[in-house]
Amino acid sequence: MSIERTFSIIKPDAVKKNAIGGVVARLEEGGLRVVASRMVRLTEQQARAFYAVHKDRPFYGDLVKLMTEGPVVVQVLEGENAVLKNREIMGATNPEKADGGTIRKLFGTNIERNAVHGSDAPETAAQEIAFFFSGSELATLQR
Ligand code: CMP
Repeated sequence: MSIERTFSIIKPDAVKKNAIGGVVARLEEGGLRVVASRMVRLTEQQARAFYAVHKDRPFYGDLVKLMTEGPVVVQVLEGENAVLKNREIMGATNPEKADGGTIRKLFGTNIERNAVHGSDAPETAAQEIAFFFSGSELATLQR
């Protein structure tokens, strides 16, 4: 077990549903701590760059559209095995297949409007955190 950081986005569909608090409550109940958080409206350019790994997938255009349709909350989460823990708390990518009690089951609608994004590995987490938060900003948030 090691203390890790991971990156999380509360997507426009969950923000629109007034579910920011519900999402964060589940993350905190699951043992994760929010160590940085900011509400932002992604530009098309930012969404394209953030999801560049999916640029050749058929759903890329729709994904960029959905991620820019309203504000999101970008967060850094910390805890033991945070990457895996966050993925467990989020549930399967498709809310229809997610276990009961997971964030995507509770707040997601379908595979496109699935409430949250979470990093899939520690290396990705480091890249995704750096996409939105500078080292100096994170340093000012030390408790
Ligand atoms: P996320 O964790 O944000 O990572 C990429 C997103 O692409 C994913 O959640 C889904 O919202 C979306 N996605 C993944 N697979 C599909 C798919 N087969 N069809 C449509 N959207 C998808």
